[in-house]
Amino acid sequence: MRGMMDKTVVVTGGTGGIGFVAAQRLAAAGAKLILVGRDPQRGAAAVERIPGAQFHAADLGLMSEVRRLAAELAALPRLDVLILNAGAIFARREVTAEGLERTFALNHMHYFLLANLLLDTLKRSAPARVVLVASEAHRRARLDFDDLQCARRYGAWRAYKRSKLCNILLARELARRLHGTGVTANAVHPGFVATDFGARNPSFFSVPLALAKRLIAIAPEAGARPLVNLAAAPGLDSVSGRYFDRGLESRPSPAAQDDAAARRLWEESARIAGL
Ligand SMILES: NC(=O)c1ccc[n+]([C@@H]2O[C@H](COP(=O)([O-])OP(=O)(O)OC[C@H]3O[C@@H](n4cnc5c(N)ncnc54)[C@H](OP(=O)(O)O)[C@@H]3O)[C@@H](O)[C@H]2O)c1
Repeated sequence: MRGMMDKTVVVTGGTGGIGFVAAQRLAAAGAKLILVGRDPQRGAAAVERIPGAQFHAADLGLMSEVRRLAAELAALPRLDVLILNAGAIFARREVTAEGLERTFALNHMHYFLLANLLLDTLKRSAPARVVLVASEAHRRARLDFDDLQCARRYGAWRAYKRSKLCNILLARELARRLHGTGVTANAVHPGFVATDFGARNPSFFSVPLALAKRLIAIAPEAGARPLVNLAAAPGLDSVSGRYFDRGLESRPSPAAQDDAAARRLWEESARIAGL
C-alpha cells in the first residue's frame, strides 16, 4: 500500500458488505475513514469496529440526500480517495420520491452527483483517486438513451447490468475530464461476493441468489481486496479511466469503451441532476 497514514477516504456503502471490509483494511493502514450508509444503527455498529471512523447517514438513492451529504463533506480539509460503492438490485421497478427508477438513482446517479460535487475537494487534494465499484454484469448491457430508466421494459438484472455499464462509462468520462489534475478514476469488479447484496428483495428473488452465493461466492475479505488495491496501491497515481476485474486490468465490453456514449451519459446525468 502507498502511505495511507492520515489520508482521508470516503466509502459510500461503507456500513456493510465489500465497502465495510475495504474500510477496515484502509483504516488498518492508517487512513481516516468516513462511511456513508442509510441506516444509522448499522452506521454506529460499523464505526465501533473501525477506530477513528465517522459515519454520515444518507439515502443515496435521492439526489437531495447526495447534495446534503456533499455539503457536509465540503468541510473536509482534504479528500484523498472517494470509493463509490453503495449499490443494490431491485426485483420490481420502483420510483424514488424524485421520480427516478431506483437502480439508476442509486447505482448511477449517486456516483455521478457525489463525484461531481466533491471534484474541487479532490483536485485540491491531488494526487487523489476515485474508485467506482462496477461489475462484470455490465458485459451484456446496452444503454438505451431513449429509455435509460427502463420505463418501457424493466427487469431487475437488466436495470442492474445497465447501471454497472454506467459506472464504467462514468469512470472513463471522469478520467477524460480530470486529465492533468492529478485525480484519477477507475472502475472495478470485486468478484461474486457473499454479502447482503440482493437480500432485501422478495424471496422469489433473494432465495436463489442466496443459494448461489453459498455455493460459489467469494468471501467479503477477498471482494474488498481489489477496492483496497485501487485506493492504495503505489504506482497507480497516473492510471486512470481503466477497468479492473478483481486484481487485474481488463478490457470491458465494447459498449463500455464507447466514448461518445460516456459523454452523452454525462450530459444526460447532468441534466437530470440539474448541474
Ligand atoms: N456482491 C457481489 O457479488 C457484487 C458483485 C459485483 C459488484 N458488486 C457491487 O459492489 C457494491 C457493494 O455491494 P455489496 O455486495 O457490498 O452489497 P451489500 O452487502 O448489500 O452492501 C451495500 C452497502 O450499500 C449501502 N446502501 C444500500 N442502499 C443504500 C442507499 N440507498 N443509500 C445509502 N447506502 C446504501 C448499504 O448500507 P445500508 O443498507 O445500511 O444503507 C451497505 O453498506 C455494489 O455497487 C454492487 O453493485 C457486488
